Amino acid sequence: MPALLPGVDLGKRATMNRGTWGSRFGFVVAAAGSAVGLGNIWKFPYITGVNGGGAFVLVYLACIALVGLPILIAEILLGRATQGSPVAAFRQLTRKGSPWVGTGWLGVAAGFVILSYYSVVAGWAIHYTFLALTNHFNEVGEAKAIAKIFTDLVGNPGLNIGYHGAFLVLTVAVVIGGVKAGIERWSRILMPFLGMILVGMLVYATGLDGFGRALGFVFGGRFSDLHAAGFLEALGHAFFTLSLGMGAMLTYGSYLPKETSIPKSALWVALLDTVIALLASMVIFPITFTHGIEPAAGPGLVFQSLPIAFSQMPAGYPLSILFFVLLVFAALTSAISLLEVVASTFIDVYGWTRRKATLSTGAVIFVCGIPSALSGGSFFGSGFAEFFWGKTFFDVMDYLSSNWMLPLGGLFVSLYSGYALKQETSVGEFGGAAAAPLHTVWRATVRYLAPAAVLMVMLKSSGILALLTGK
Ligand code: PHE
Repeated sequence: MPALLPGVDLGKRATMNRGTWGSRFGFVVAAAGSAVGLGNIWKFPYITGVNGGGAFVLVYLACIALVGLPILIAEILLGRATQGSPVAAFRQLTRKGSPWVGTGWLGVAAGFVILSYYSVVAGWAIHYTFLALTNHFNEVGEAKAIAKIFTDLVGNPGLNIGYHGAFLVLTVAVVIGGVKAGIERWSRILMPFLGMILVGMLVYATGLDGFGRALGFVFGGRFSDLHAAGFLEALGHAFFTLSLGMGAMLTYGSYLPKETSIPKSALWVALLDTVIALLASMVIFPITFTHGIEPAAGPGLVFQSLPIAFSQMPAGYPLSILFFVLLVFAALTSAISLLEVVASTFIDVYGWTRRKATLSTGAVIFVCGIPSALSGGSFFGSGFAEFFWGKTFFDVMDYLSSNWMLPLGGLFVSLYSGYALKQETSVGEFGGAAAAPLHTVWRATVRYLAPAAVLMVMLKSSGILALLTGK
């Protein structure tokens, strides 16, 4: 058993059977598997489009480097020091009934909410995998008609609920078997593959007429285009895409061998995640510009623009199959980490068996996701939007969890590790005296910079800042 947190009484906690990743590469690939998902390929391009491009991307990159990376380190560190899932970890670090434990529960709630709509989008990817297999995009051929496939799908309640359920069944099946060997093994195979496909598609995209415009759109920052809400969205997305603020990285960190460097691994995860998001947008925007699709098309962007490209490019048929299969797998390795946090909490805290915890939380998440699956219709969609700031049920779940719950969870993690955690523990996890200067920089970031940034953005977007300053 690895050396544990100094000065902490482990009590009855079942830390004995916790496994470890095979190597640093194993951890990086599994954590990157959690980080890289629909957030990178589906959400990042579409919110970049909605928020007007370059300036949003710059703010997002700053959020990743200045807020995301330090908090990623903090989560991994707390996980490795306590060897527990979030609620168990905070219980162990603090006294019973301490408000910090609420941070763990907030994370569990966020995981629950995110998975309920995440699986709806993953369900769309399953549907598109079948369409790709039957060469449907090629048969339809015409760009507008291909784009319409998506609007038809979203409006179809049966298909949406069916695929949402099917994807959750897949997720439950992996988590029930114990994820460790499965996640690491699959991530090792799939992640490099996903990278290669994206690079291949980038080569194709560079040849399109719209490539130059797309470059300008993604990398030419114009701050006049960015609204205050865009800052919150960029920050929220930094949390979402790095799987932060809900304990997924904390849980994965609990399987990290003692000798592995946390800052280096975290840097790799953040880099891989960012590169894949940028790659995805450099594939998608050239296609949208070439075919006159609105960059601000919203959640349908990827599902509409890529199939158009597949129907026109050489070898589009096999590539489309590969792409959507990989999208499903990218979503799966992320969904697994979401369900793992929820299920392992019930295992750690209430002593449920893995089977009972996974099946019952999976079933409840399925039911709670049904309104999201129906958000393309009138009741939970346009009708709902009339009462909720123009957002459908699906949008509200996404907005609340990624823009508010994750940043709030991240804020608490950074405050805890900056102020409440014993310094000897964090220094030890950083690798002792040799890493002391790096530790000092990290500690200053989680004490001052990260919390200040999160608070500022939250106050600004909630309108509280305007009330306080009268502006
Ligand atoms: N990071 C995942 C993605 O980008 C989503 C996720 C969020 C996974 C939070 C786990 C926890 O798709």
